Amino acid sequence: MRRVLVVDDEENLRVVLRTLLRRHGYEVETAASGEEALALVDAFGPDYVLTDVRMPRMGGLDLLATLRAKHNDATVIVMSAYGNLDLAIEAMKAGAYDYVQKPFKADEVVLALRKAEERESLRRENRALREEIRKENRFEDILAKSAQMQEVFRTIAKVADYKTTVLITGESGVGKELVARALHRRSARGGGRFVAVNCGAIPENLLESELFGHRKGAFTDAVQDRRGLFEEASGGSLFLDEIGELPLGLQVKLLRVLEDERIRRLGDARDIQVDVRIIAATHRDLANETKAGRFREDLFYRLNVLPIHVPPLRERREDIPLLVDHFVHRNNGRLGTAIRGLDAEARRLLYEYSWPGNVRELENTVERAMVLTEGDLVTAVDLPERVREARDPVQMQLASGELSVKKTSRIIEEILIRRALTKTKGNRTRAAELLEISHRALLYKLKDYQITDL
Ligand SMILES: Nc1ncnc2c1ncn2[C@@H]1O[C@H](COP(=O)(O)OP(=O)(O)OP(=O)(O)O)[C@@H](O)[C@H]1O
Ligand SMILES: [Mg+2]
Repeated sequence: MRRVLVVDDEENLRVVLRTLLRRHGYEVETAASGEEALALVDAFGPDYVLTDVRMPRMGGLDLLATLRAKHNDATVIVMSAYGNLDLAIEAMKAGAYDYVQKPFKADEVVLALRKAEERESLRRENRALREEIRKENRFEDILAKSAQMQEVFRTIAKVADYKTTVLITGESGVGKELVARALHRRSARGGGRFVAVNCGAIPENLLESELFGHRKGAFTDAVQDRRGLFEEASGGSLFLDEIGELPLGLQVKLLRVLEDERIRRLGDARDIQVDVRIIAATHRDLANETKAGRFREDLFYRLNVLPIHVPPLRERREDIPLLVDHFVHRNNGRLGTAIRGLDAEARRLLYEYSWPGNVRELENTVERAMVLTEGDLVTAVDLPERVREARDPVQMQLASGELSVKKTSRIIEEILIRRALTKTKGNRTRAAELLEISHRALLYKLKDYQITDL
């Protein structure tokens, strides 16, 4: 049974409302003042507070403010006499759900309550739904709903507890570090430390002592013994970011550590046993690096036992709206802005852009737009030129509502031809093979589409 607390200094009205609402199936309590109402709320736990605005001492507005301050989320409906309409409006602004004007007919009050009830059940449903979606689309700090990323989530969960080395690959800004942290947290060693080192950012001579530590006097600046990151991460995980940049000399040493689980500080004569889970990441194609002689093949195979590939954002566009909402919400908290979101045009542009910088670029773009926008809604003009202009021609054609198969096919055909020529570095015979058309047909189409470069 829904509970209503009726607050009015007029006894008559309290009696009338109590009778009326009880008849409509509500459980009713009454209070003659704001103070009396406050004394009752906790014990009675009303779903609705139906209160007069103007009462001696504590009026309806103060009652509302006090309820909210106590984090009581009962739905408040105010009643006001004709002359006090401005007070009722003020109450609405302060978070009252509705108001009824006195004198009222019986069904007006009941109707206001029914309306509130409907909205409340909708709100509850929405909240449950949102919660559900949030749970499904989130893995630790990674937000994603695309099938590709759900697969990544499953893989992380599956491999987390093995001590096996994991190699995370993917373009810059796709979230490799987030995946590494999630993997660590989900593993049995999640309570241990997560130590990250960027192998590309530290000069070779320093990197070695950084990783393995050194003894006092091992080199000029080694004024005292120092533990390396392997020791720091013992019992936890060591994240070797940009492993593709690891100098060849250190690749040999790393391979040995992976095999023996022992390290030796620079200048030391003895080995130290370490218990570390290695997570490596790179934006490079390590197989290629291996062929080019820049990465040791044996280390590559040792690292590549459990690869996790994080696909670029443009291959999982379903994740874009989710990420945009998340960044808007988070930035509102951080920047103190009150942006409601993006208008349809801006949303579409973000959805269609190719995001060479992936999620990081999207994150920066949303933040920049939120700072630039004049209103409370981000629009297309707030987006950088590259996003506004780099519309995907196929998407544009489809969005235009054009139905001609011929015109649309031409757009796609031209894209495929350019792609094939890029791939074959301008070799037309091989391009024709890839396109599965004759050499002659290709020459004709090149002329037709006026493709001369390449
Ligand atoms: N799925 C995601 N959900 C929420 N935030 C994400 C997601 N993917 C990436 N981000 C955010 O995008 C930024 C880039 O992510 P991260 O640093 O993990 O990428 P990376 O692949 O390691 O990039 P790089 O190769 O440049 O080091 C971070 O701020 C991260 O929080
Ligand atoms: Mg990174």
